Amino acid sequence: MAEHILLRHRDIPDLHKLDVYLQHGGYEAFKKVVTTMTPQQVIDEVKASGLRGRGGAGFPTGLKWGFLTKDFPRYVTANSDESEPGTFKDREILEKNPHQFFEGVMICAYAAQANVAYNYMRGEFWDIAMRLDQVLAELRERGFLGKNLFGTNYSLDIHNHLGAGAYICGEESALLESIEGKLGQPRLKPPFPADKGLYNKPTIVNNTETLTNVPMIIARGAAWYKTMGTEKSPGPKVFCLSGHVKNPGNYELPLGTTFRHLIYELGGGPPSGLKVKAILTAGASSTVLTGGDDILDTPMDYESVAAKGGALGSASIIVLDESVDMAWLTLKTSRFFKHESCGKCTPCREGTYWMLNILERLNRHAATKADVDLLNNVASQIAGKVPAIPQLANRLRTGMRVACSGTTSSPTTTTNRMLRPGNSIQLKA
Ligand SMILES: Cc1cc2nc3c(=O)[nH]c(=O)nc-3n(C[C@H](O)[C@H](O)[C@H](O)COP(=O)(O)O)c2cc1C
Ligand code: SF4
Repeated sequence: MAEHILLRHRDIPDLHKLDVYLQHGGYEAFKKVVTTMTPQQVIDEVKASGLRGRGGAGFPTGLKWGFLTKDFPRYVTANSDESEPGTFKDREILEKNPHQFFEGVMICAYAAQANVAYNYMRGEFWDIAMRLDQVLAELRERGFLGKNLFGTNYSLDIHNHLGAGAYICGEESALLESIEGKLGQPRLKPPFPADKGLYNKPTIVNNTETLTNVPMIIARGAAWYKTMGTEKSPGPKVFCLSGHVKNPGNYELPLGTTFRHLIYELGGGPPSGLKVKAILTAGASSTVLTGGDDILDTPMDYESVAAKGGALGSASIIVLDESVDMAWLTLKTSRFFKHESCGKCTPCREGTYWMLNILERLNRHAATKADVDLLNNVASQIAGKVPAIPQLANRLRTGMRVACSGTTSSPTTTTNRMLRPGNSIQLKA
């Protein structure tokens, strides 16, 4: 990609400094929306750009902004939790290009007619938070935050908020609970945050990378933005590349670039020289994609990856070469999800415990065929069920509330196929 749109600090030294950012057109887009555009015009421009959320689901951003109900006050919350293993793009943006991110938050807040916004970060980002507090203090001092901005009636302040480092707090409603000072557990949906979010008021939650796109869309226009990427997945994306590649790291590329280009031409392929056995496309929670050339030649956009049975998610591409034992992978990821289960839903709380037990037996070669069947059974009790919460909650009359358990069992359900006869696992009997 010739020019970075999101990782602009790679082209412009010291972009994290306010004066450098201002020299390169910084905060002009925010000034433009506040002084010359109505909130609805801002929403329409973001809608027209086709920008889709970069936090996982790929939901159209402008559409989400338009969903806010009529109640006031309203809030905007940036999701900088970045809790998914294998995801490290938001961290780079926060550290190296914080002004473009905050300008995106400000434009979003203006579009939402919110006067307060929060930037929620995982607890481990405490050092970044200290620097971002200084950034916000400088923005207040220089008149980019505060009352009557640019001589208008519009006022805005932004606060950084640190969580305590729980995976589940990346889920938007758990994040809102955490900001409110409560235990970080997801809420029952609906109502969605656009209706009843932070402090029960209409709230927009957007990922850090999503918001970092916005100043460039306002500055250069939706038509320009749509020249990058694919028709349904326009724009640039930061792909986090890790695992068995020579050159891991963040790569900003147009959506629709193939896995092969990222993994081999940019990433250098597996250092072992072995072939790629599998790809996790959306961090540890993603479906495991296998299938050699067919998968490698798949464009990395929301539709194409879904057509292969996966999900692009936050585009955290973990590459596994042929040396990887899928049973080991499943054990590792299951241990993580068992540890991170927030305990609210019984299938997840109990199921992840039992899956881990069985997987430990499998990895010790002490499991039987019946254990494999039991593992399949437990995983299928979890997979895809918790997002269908209202129905499932009614049926089982449990206290299940939300939203994320489809993720907790996906590595197991996928790799279970590989635990069947003919695989590397030796069953006891
Ligand atoms: C278990 C779980 C963890 C999540 N973690 C994150 C995260 O770390 N960062 C993030 O932006 N979104 C995360 N999400 C997605 C958010 O709930 C939400 O959809 C997203 O922040 C919306 O922003 P977007 O529309 O800009 O993508 C997570 C979702 C789930 C179910
Ligand atoms: S699925 Fe698991 S992590 Fe998600 S809310 Fe339920 S118990 Fe918590």
